[in-house]
Amino acid sequence: MCNGKRVPPLTVMGSAGQLQQVMMNLLQNGFDAVGQNEAPHIWVTVGHADGMVRVVLRDNGPGIPPEHLLRIFDPFFTTKPVGKGTGLGLSISYGIVEQHGGRLSARNAEGGGAEFVLELPLA
Ligand SMILES: Nc1ncnc2c1ncn2[C@@H]1O[C@H](COP(=O)(O)OP(=O)(O)OP(=O)(O)O)[C@@H](O)[C@H]1O
Ligand SMILES: [Mg+2]
Repeated sequence: MCNGKRVPPLTVMGSAGQLQQVMMNLLQNGFDAVGQNEAPHIWVTVGHADGMVRVVLRDNGPGIPPEHLLRIFDPFFTTKPVGKGTGLGLSISYGIVEQHGGRLSARNAEGGGAEFVLELPLA
């Protein structure tokens, strides 16, 4: 969880509870994705550019099939077994981030795994 560089405090404005919910959902998704990997990793890096705080969460799970990339933010889209996932985590997170004037996007990382980019206006 540390990129080895010192980052000055980066403050954003908004609902701490809601933003924590976004982080928890992204991390839980990462944990679920890396479950089969014998050396599970989630890398979290934080930086800022152009007045936005940027948090990148990368994992070494299986990644997201290209045909799912446009659907993962849809309400009730889940690939998890019945009773495990509701498919609401990313759609709720997307809405929260949008309400905070930010952006949430997903892609497959170079070298495998999924990468989520969370951007929020720097206060
Ligand atoms: N890090 C990831 N790696 C691979 N696939 C992912 C990752 N994060 C999300 N997904 C895919 O996106 C889908 C939707 O995620 P979302 O968080 O909205 O719902 P969920 O995790 O299935 O259920 P819950 O509502 O409990 O969060 C997941 O079921 C999974 O297919
Ligand atoms: Mg989830």
